[in-house]
Amino acid sequence: MLILGIETSCDETSVSVVEDGVRILSNAISSQVDVHSRYGGVVPELASRQHVQSILYVLDEAISDAGISLADIDGVAVTTNPGLIGALLIGLTAAKTISFALRVPLVGVNHIEAHVYANFLEIPPDTWPVVALVASGGHSDVIYLPSPCELRVIGRTRDDAAGEAFDKTARAMGLGYPGGPAIERIAREGNPRAIDFPRAHLEEGSYDFSFSGLKTAALVRMERAKKTGEEIDIRDFAASFQQAVVDILVEKTVKAAIDFEVRRVLVGGGVAANQALREAFRNSLPSGIELHFPHPELCTDNAAMVASAGYFRLVRGDIDGLELNADSR
Ligand code: KG4
Ligand code: ZN
Repeated sequence: MLILGIETSCDETSVSVVEDGVRILSNAISSQVDVHSRYGGVVPELASRQHVQSILYVLDEAISDAGISLADIDGVAVTTNPGLIGALLIGLTAAKTISFALRVPLVGVNHIEAHVYANFLEIPPDTWPVVALVASGGHSDVIYLPSPCELRVIGRTRDDAAGEAFDKTARAMGLGYPGGPAIERIAREGNPRAIDFPRAHLEEGSYDFSFSGLKTAALVRMERAKKTGEEIDIRDFAASFQQAVVDILVEKTVKAAIDFEVRRVLVGGGVAANQALREAFRNSLPSGIELHFPHPELCTDNAAMVASAGYFRLVRGDIDGLELNADSR
């Protein structure tokens, strides 16, 4: 079964063809990073305009890379939420049009669920229940999945997302956007114990995150150094900040995995590309709990993960009508 996936929730226009939810035939991605980087973050209206300009080209690329014709598609999966509303509507309109024209089923996909399903493009979906961490620019969620397509968000950020904290701190450090990869690059040469940034643990038993205190501490520290002329080793600063984010993400996720007695932990979202996060997970998870991270290209936004999540919904009979709508939340 060939599913066409469409993803336009943020600043990547992506279309993909995936066979049976697990085998990628194509995964075309047009990134808008150059458009937004001068503003230090994604500008919603510019994102919508870029999606309008790119969507048909990216669709053509996905079909031709897959070596098929559009008529071979058996279903269309599209991200409906959460995301930037104008951006989501571009992908949704394209998906509805294709579904209507080809008379194939349409299914709306939750973007967070898709980030979890990115894992099943590399490992079989055969071990349940699962605890997943999805950490990106817009969300940081700990999710419990008792069985396929069943998602319970058990922890979430109360303020900034992990990726957002990376992006805002990187901006204050004069690094480019996106901030995560920039901080990771210079952190490799720094000492992660040099600066003791605050880690919010919240109430006993909570799986929620809070990154705004950490972000503010980093920004204040940076500002103070600029004013007083104090020399800060930017490598140590980056490494210490990154370690604080990683510690919080790993602590809560590992706690959830133990409490929910799962045998598998899956990670996804742009921040999952971070090597320090990967290493911290490997060092903290008790033996007997399997850990998987998608390839970095499948961690950041892409339509293959949407096609995968959509496939598993379609085979269960989850089919949406043309009244399907987008939702920013
Ligand atoms: O999943 P994604 O592509 O888009 C959203 O749904 O937000 O994630 C993008 C976010 C950005 O905040 C970016 O700074 C962060 O993921 N990111 C990273 C890394 N690569 C991307 N954060 C830390 N380390 C990385 N290597
Ligand atoms: Zn995402």
